[in-house]
Amino acid sequence: MFSKNRCFTWLVARPLSIARAARFAGFPAHFSWDDAPRGRVVGPHVFKVFDVSSDNPSSENPSSPTSALTARRGGPISGRVRVPGDKSISHRALILGAMTVGETAITGLLEGEDVHNTAKAMQALGAKVERGGDGVWRVHGVGVGGFMSPRAPLDFGNSGTGARLTIGAVAGSPIKATFDGDGSLRKRPMRRVLDPLERMGLRTLEQAEGGRLPLTIEGAGEPIPIEYESPVPSAQLKSAVLLAGLAAPGETTVVEAEATRDHTERMLKHFGAKVTVKHSGEHGRRIILQGQPELEPAPVVVPADPSSAAFPLVAALIVPGSDLVLEDVMTNPLRTGLYKTLREMGAEIEALETRDDGEEVADLRIRASSLKGIEVPAERAPSMIDEYPVLAVAAAYAQGPTVMRGLSELRVKESDRLAATAEMLRINGIEVTIDGDDMTVVGKGVVPGGGMVATHMDHRLAMSALVMGLNSEQGVKVDDTAFVATSFPGFTELMRAIGADFS
Ligand code: S3P
Repeated sequence: MFSKNRCFTWLVARPLSIARAARFAGFPAHFSWDDAPRGRVVGPHVFKVFDVSSDNPSSENPSSPTSALTARRGGPISGRVRVPGDKSISHRALILGAMTVGETAITGLLEGEDVHNTAKAMQALGAKVERGGDGVWRVHGVGVGGFMSPRAPLDFGNSGTGARLTIGAVAGSPIKATFDGDGSLRKRPMRRVLDPLERMGLRTLEQAEGGRLPLTIEGAGEPIPIEYESPVPSAQLKSAVLLAGLAAPGETTVVEAEATRDHTERMLKHFGAKVTVKHSGEHGRRIILQGQPELEPAPVVVPADPSSAAFPLVAALIVPGSDLVLEDVMTNPLRTGLYKTLREMGAEIEALETRDDGEEVADLRIRASSLKGIEVPAERAPSMIDEYPVLAVAAAYAQGPTVMRGLSELRVKESDRLAATAEMLRINGIEVTIDGDDMTVVGKGVVPGGGMVATHMDHRLAMSALVMGLNSEQGVKVDDTAFVATSFPGFTELMRAIGADFS
């Protein structure tokens, strides 16, 4: 069962690097892109223009009526599965594909609601977006500065990444566009991206109170290049400035005090832009983009999302007797703070096979483990910012307190995740304290359960609560699983297939 698997996901394989990737993956040197293994996807594909009115064909769907679910203690979590493609890379592949002249081929795209909304937005801005089968997409871009004014407001649903990155991308086209989203996204701060983009020449024509959605902007055409010191550790903010900087003459620089996920920088280089990354301070980076590059289309293969993999991974750690393999998980060090933390807590997580071509990828074997509480330093937060709710679940099953420091950014996620995570645990019998930006979960190795968790339109809270139920004494109920489809379509089915008792 755990024999070496031929798993060939690599990211951003430019034609020139295919021979290298092929050798790495055990292919003969004459291997060509046409022979490229595409995970579960089989060709030939018939591409159809993405239907902007289509819904995500998954069972969990934010536009469907709310759906409660209960997770109960059952058998071990075992098997070998691949979670869907990485959300951050999927958004970026669509947006950069739309800003490139020519055809960008994407495989393994996450087909969740958030990414679908970005695909629809790119189409409304003038790019042609086509789907050829599961995860197989093509984008015919319009080039940097080539977007056209959309006829209707762009609706980003639940997605801060889609909205903020697209605001940055639109800042470099002389067009007007209105951005909107669901009740959760309308509460989230957009000023953080508007402030630097206004310095670059973007005009905010209309905005809801506090710089929130819905808002209407007018792009600059030729933005002014700036040097920007990011006041918050946010990859979305950094990416918005860099995407605007593509249309600017000269150098656009972003300085971040703490390094955040670097998929935008990596993908910009992959599409031919000149990006220089230097160290800045103890944990930070200085990213310099040379503006007005000729972006060239380049194929993107999206690895499995480490933030989605976190849910079956923690489930396997906390349910006795579990032994699970997760395939193709992206292990970019700026995304895997959770894995490091869990290992420090005593988790048995083994990398069976590792690959690297643009982004690091591994197959991970996870076995049920006795966990102990630890202290998680604040500087690790950006590399695991989406994983705190599920880390809190692991901490509840550990022995002793786990102290998580520096969580201020959790307050501005799809929900106030700091408050919502604490509430999720308390209602299920776990002692939690919040002191400023730090949260302490007192683990006793046992979770009483019995609580009904309010998910606040937050997909990661819903999935974390369901994972928590899997070894709880009385089960854990969530009020609404609909938003799970924003990032992890097929979550319920995948979890049931590896042994989860959800009903
Ligand atoms: C993301 C960045 C993070 C993360 C989000 C995805 C991205 O947000 O929480 O899920 O793809 O850039 P912030 O940049 O606001 O921290």
